[in-house]
Amino acid sequence: METIIMNIDSENIDYKIIDIFGKMLKEGKTVIFPTETVYGIGANALDESAAKKIYVAKGRPSDNPLLVHIAEVDDIHDLVEEVDGRAKLLMEKFWPGPLTIVFKKKRSIPNVTSGGLDTVAIRMPSDKVARSLIKASGVPIAAPSANLSGKPSPTKPEHILKDMNGRVDGILLGGACNFGVESTIIDLSGGEVVILRPGSITLEMLSEVLGEVKIDPSIMNKDDNQKAKAPGMKYTHYSPKAEVFIVEGDQKEVAKKINELNDENKEKGLKTGVLCLNKNKAMYNAQTFTLGETYEDVAKNLFDCLIELDNKGIDIAYAESYEEKDLGITIMNRLKKSAGYKIIKL
Ligand code: TXA
Ligand code: MG
Repeated sequence: METIIMNIDSENIDYKIIDIFGKMLKEGKTVIFPTETVYGIGANALDESAAKKIYVAKGRPSDNPLLVHIAEVDDIHDLVEEVDGRAKLLMEKFWPGPLTIVFKKKRSIPNVTSGGLDTVAIRMPSDKVARSLIKASGVPIAAPSANLSGKPSPTKPEHILKDMNGRVDGILLGGACNFGVESTIIDLSGGEVVILRPGSITLEMLSEVLGEVKIDPSIMNKDDNQKAKAPGMKYTHYSPKAEVFIVEGDQKEVAKKINELNDENKEKGLKTGVLCLNKNKAMYNAQTFTLGETYEDVAKNLFDCLIELDNKGIDIAYAESYEEKDLGITIMNRLKKSAGYKIIKL
């Protein structure tokens, strides 16, 4: 298929471009667009045949539901049964922004979009391009991350161009995504409040607003992963071609171990990469892929570095480990999945 590709400056939005792509979405076509988390591949959430095209473009299993994106808070009432007090508090505090809320769905949401569930996950992005585009389309937009199923989510224009050109009707390219990890998903469809996927809105931030918030056990452990309540979390995920291992322990020991493994790999003719903080870079004798200084930097750069491993032909990669607290929970969730839960503990 021929893909229409255009660039847009989010600081100085050209609304003629937004109208072109908004019209495509309204007509049932697929469009990739930037959000503050990762790039999404969008289609009209209320149009079954449009939503089906997303699954085809991504090679995604059809029981994995799509998130629905809205431009204004009031757009939610056509989509969900009830917006209760807890939801209102969250929406007031975190929307627009990287928080997705799971509600009981209205019948207007086709089964293709909700993956056959009786709930629907809704998000109102803060990215100006994303919101203007959804508004211009005049419909709610179903949009999963714009990667091929199983691969790391795209956070930069070059990631999109490499894999998705020819698979969708349109691509709207902004800059690099601000947060770099997908939205936090919180489930309000049952009695308890449960985080189904950690993101940049952390457990601590949510607990401050709602009191007790649980974390779905599948988020951290492989064994529980098969029972994941967010269906997408159970699939192989964020996997580059390179085999990834997490190495956990005292930083000096970690560097020593990775350097030894690099020597062994070299003898076997295998190319090693290390995912590390900038400050640790000089400790390694293998090729490094630096994630920045802070946990925010690591979240922002993680998918980009995982994609870079493959661009550089790395066979085996070792990643430093992060404290599983605040944003560290999110980082470790994505890292563990990309490593297939392989952790070398020192
Ligand atoms: O930041 C984001 O959320 C990005 C951008 C593009 O908005 N989107 C995104 O979508 O990450 P996706 O489809 O890659 O991940 C959505 C996750 C999947 O794991 C899916 O199974 C889960 O949300 N999900 C969708 N609807 C659900 C529902 N009704 N109940 C539980 N989980 C749901
Ligand atoms: Mg995804």
